[in-house]
Amino acid sequence: MNETHILWPHKDLLDVDQLSRQDVAILLEQAANFQEINQRPVKKVPILRGKSVVLFFAEPSTRTKTSFDVAGKRLSADTFSLGKGDSSLTKGESLKDTSLTLQAMAPDVIVIRHSSSGAAQFLAERLDCGVVNAGDGWHAHPTQALLDCFSLCQTWGGNFAGKTLLIVGDISHSRVARSNITLLSRLGVRLRVCAPRTLLPTAIKSWPVEVCDNLNNAVRDVDAVMCLRLQLERQQAGLLPNLAEYARRFCLGPRHMELAKTGAKVLHPGPINRGLDLSSALADSPQSLILDQVASGVSMRMAILFLMATRNDMGAAV
Ligand code: CP
Repeated sequence: MNETHILWPHKDLLDVDQLSRQDVAILLEQAANFQEINQRPVKKVPILRGKSVVLFFAEPSTRTKTSFDVAGKRLSADTFSLGKGDSSLTKGESLKDTSLTLQAMAPDVIVIRHSSSGAAQFLAERLDCGVVNAGDGWHAHPTQALLDCFSLCQTWGGNFAGKTLLIVGDISHSRVARSNITLLSRLGVRLRVCAPRTLLPTAIKSWPVEVCDNLNNAVRDVDAVMCLRLQLERQQAGLLPNLAEYARRFCLGPRHMELAKTGAKVLHPGPINRGLDLSSALADSPQSLILDQVASGVSMRMAILFLMATRNDMGAAV
């Protein structure tokens, strides 16, 4: 790798709206550098030796938590996990006291997932170490949007302008949709969304998206489709008549993709409801980028941890 010095201006990563185009370009370039490490027989470099990263996940996670853990370890950082069930949150300790306790152990970065929108910002305002938002309520999931952006960058050869991405599913409750729409629209991607009206936010008219409630129309001539997980409790909340009806109208299948551009790809942040969000045939097809997104997650989170954990050092050398 080249010896370069990077000025990273952000103590925290709370959402993509804080990132300039240059910040995004740096993250994409660093992720591409780290991707090469992930393909070596020995996938470990000493870049973050002596740094420590706390993974504070007060909500379940497979992909985000594991990939931050793998990312930190591949850069030789020490990573420590704390979940809601095994923390003193269960004894009534407040989020403030929990985070001050973690801070007293002098980590360089705390990665937090929490069910409350604004939880990551709450920590960032109180802690000296870097805070990364790994998903807060319905608000934001910036590292997911950045890894999706990295997968699309590689698929589209770095050209975002003029491409069209369709997002299908529960837009209203999706932090993934919010962060992706913010990030990709800034890069020049045209965004289309398709969902039942009850799963669209009331403010959708002010979002930079085209709205369509018919999947056959929505998928026409798109370059990629991102399906979202339908949270099954939405039916209990009265937002859907029944799941079979939802699947009939909004489950993406191979027939739909015949209407998209040739070579169009399918993404899903996971976890997938097969047969509800998208068909198994499509999830397991060569059109699917789903496992590529997971691999991109490790490279992108290596980039994020590297930039954040070294920002106060003399100059980050890669
Ligand atoms: N995409 C995502 O955030 O997945 P996990 O909930 O498994 O982390």
